[in-house]
Amino acid sequence: MKPVKVGLLGLGTVGTGVVRIVQGNQEDLSSQVGSPIYIERIAVKSADKPRSIEIDPAKLTTDPWEVIRDPEIDVIVEVMGGVEKTREYLLEALERGKHIITANKDLMALHGTEILAKAQEKQCDVFYEASVAGGIPIIRTLIEGFSSDRIVKIMGIVNGTTNYILTKMSQEGASYDDVLKEAQQLGYAESDPTSDVEGLDAARKMSILGTLGFRTNVELQDVSVSGISGVSKEDIQFAKRLGYEMKLLGIAESQNDEFSISVQPTMIRASHPIASVNGVFNAVYVYGEAVGETMFYGAGAGEMPTATSVVADLVAVIKNLKLGVNGLKQIVPYKQKKLKSDED
Ligand code: NDP
Ligand code: HSE
Repeated sequence: MKPVKVGLLGLGTVGTGVVRIVQGNQEDLSSQVGSPIYIERIAVKSADKPRSIEIDPAKLTTDPWEVIRDPEIDVIVEVMGGVEKTREYLLEALERGKHIITANKDLMALHGTEILAKAQEKQCDVFYEASVAGGIPIIRTLIEGFSSDRIVKIMGIVNGTTNYILTKMSQEGASYDDVLKEAQQLGYAESDPTSDVEGLDAARKMSILGTLGFRTNVELQDVSVSGISGVSKEDIQFAKRLGYEMKLLGIAESQNDEFSISVQPTMIRASHPIASVNGVFNAVYVYGEAVGETMFYGAGAGEMPTATSVVADLVAVIKNLKLGVNGLKQIVPYKQKKLKSDED
């Protein structure tokens, strides 16, 4: 059984979890895919940084191109973050016939169409389950689980950091700054947490969900965004007194050939199931014309939940590789739908 060789870009919160799962579950994973899985090379920013797992220093490089250009490597797992440079790495990897797994919603929201088109041209897989809602398999669910239905509404708490902050402010009266620091230490926040607290991270995720759910091209600029940095403890307590919880909610709706999409702090009735989604947990509510209401719940960020999605993608890619098929996560052609304007 020839081993499958994986190149890992990034060994931070998510990358460390990926190594833990691949090493810890090697026997089970190998038996699922029919060959051992080797993490052959790992790109990091600093090769000398202390790590919480044991890594053969010979595997580390500070040059991601070394990983991309390594002819031995079959699959690239990108958990490094960044947009422009990372786009170049992944396009080149696809050009070389390597399959891609990424947790990078910034990249997929901005350049997903280009990356998927290149993957199609090169007959490679691109899987990105961890890019939205961490450990919840919502991308597969929208693409495969609801392919038979017409989705008309997607509503979700899709950012773990802000939900963690709002929960601690609501339940413990904690200060915004203190809880943000805690979320950073726990590995939930982005390297620049502005994108979490100003709603941009959630907007990127909602544009991916809207694109997949409504089978149209939802651009990032279509999402009207406002974050939680202006939400005070008083606002949260006021909402509570009225029987509501304050949540950073993404709401996407589609009717006929139009859609609307937003991310904003929202007062939601305490009896609604989404109101009791607390801490780092995410939830995505999906309403389909035929299926009706559904809801998906789980950890939205953090090392092991996110790595679970990444490694599940890795298993799927290797299975496809063995079968000689592609599981392209692309819907072609997209239906043309337009953003609903305020005048409508
Ligand atoms: P971290 O900041 O913890 O880790 C980033 C890793 O990439 C580090 O190992 C860093 O090296 C390495 N790195 C960064 N820049 C470079 C570079 N130019 N060249 C080589 N290596 C580089 O990020 P996370 O693990 O938290 O996130 C990774 C990705 O996953 C991001 O796209 C994020 O949005 C996404 N994601 C994160 C989740 C989470 O809960 N954290 C959940 C879902 C998605 P070094 O270790 O030396 O600093
Ligand atoms: N910073 C992101 C969050 C990581 O807090 O949800 C998961 O995508």
